[in-house]
Amino acid sequence: MRILTVSDFNIALAAEALKSGLLVAFPTETVYGLGADGFNPTALARVFEVKNRPRFDPLIIHIARVEGLELAADLDLLEKESRQKTGLLCENLWPGPLTLILPKKREVPELATAGLATVAVRLPDHPAAQKLIALSTGAVAAPSANPFGRLSPTRADHVRDQLGDRVDLILDGGRTRVGVESTVLDMTGPSPRILRPGGVPQERIEALIGPVESPPGQGGPVSAPGQLKSHYAPRTPLTLHHPEEMAALTYEAGTGCLFFRGASRDRWLRYIPGAGPFPGIRVLSEEGNTSEAAANLFDILHQLDRLGLSRIRAEEAPLFGLGPAINDRLRKAAAREPSED
Ligand code: TXA
Ligand code: MG
Repeated sequence: MRILTVSDFNIALAAEALKSGLLVAFPTETVYGLGADGFNPTALARVFEVKNRPRFDPLIIHIARVEGLELAADLDLLEKESRQKTGLLCENLWPGPLTLILPKKREVPELATAGLATVAVRLPDHPAAQKLIALSTGAVAAPSANPFGRLSPTRADHVRDQLGDRVDLILDGGRTRVGVESTVLDMTGPSPRILRPGGVPQERIEALIGPVESPPGQGGPVSAPGQLKSHYAPRTPLTLHHPEEMAALTYEAGTGCLFFRGASRDRWLRYIPGAGPFPGIRVLSEEGNTSEAAANLFDILHQLDRLGLSRIRAEEAPLFGLGPAINDRLRKAAAREPSED
């Protein structure tokens, strides 16, 4: 496996690698993706193998410009109203962290969509990703570049540490900006439905196209395979706590605390005897900003996971902006069975 810094030359090299069937991890604005040529079934099969991902969990096809949508999706199969809403979303929120579930074109291999009649498409808001996709076949299938069920990568070294030589090439574009995966929005039903909360808040989508159905809460039906309860999990067991509960925790050595905002940590520290240091105490955003918190989430979880803690206690994020996406990831991390690995 080679790690190459993002440059025009290295992007061109990576595009050639994709075209010859190799797997290339690359940065997007959300998390790093494990890219394969979207039309090459052999390369697609390797993606599932490398991630140890069940074949029933379909991939997102990444395109380089809005017109590229035609490579993967057939908008003529949508009802008129859904088609209009899809147009509005593409115009206003692409490029960006929004994945649309649309009727699939026949040319997209069954393997990419896990045999479904629909396909997930997204136009990432990242110059290197766009160039890479444009220089290859224009349709790059890319799940997050982590082993199935593990923490998503927001830096090139997260990919290296988790996938190692199982990936052929890593394009290093530094830290990703958004930090949580794209919002997955299903446009094929009677009304649009969020299958996974992510980088575009529900409020922004609704401001454009009116009400959308929200993701099922904890324990709801598994509508997108990404809604599997145990996902994005650190190795360390994690429990999720309401802010009031978090403030009342007693200090336990060997336990990590992940506060949403600085004020929560300060309130808690007032009741803790001694001055620390407390190595496992972290904050997602000092000011309590949900975008900043999302950008820090996976990196901090990766760091906490390396400390050998017996447990991580995490504070719930508020229910606006990227808060629901953060809570979704934390809830899935908490749902992990201790015996799973
Ligand atoms: O931000 C992101 O979306 C990142 C970057 C790399 O683009 N990608 C990503 O891919 O998170 P992945 O494979 O980890 O998650 C894709 C999600 C899964 O939950 C999958 O089940 C869902 O999208 N999905 C894909 N195709 C679908 C379809 N046809 N119907 C319903 N859900 C689908
Ligand atoms: Mg993933």
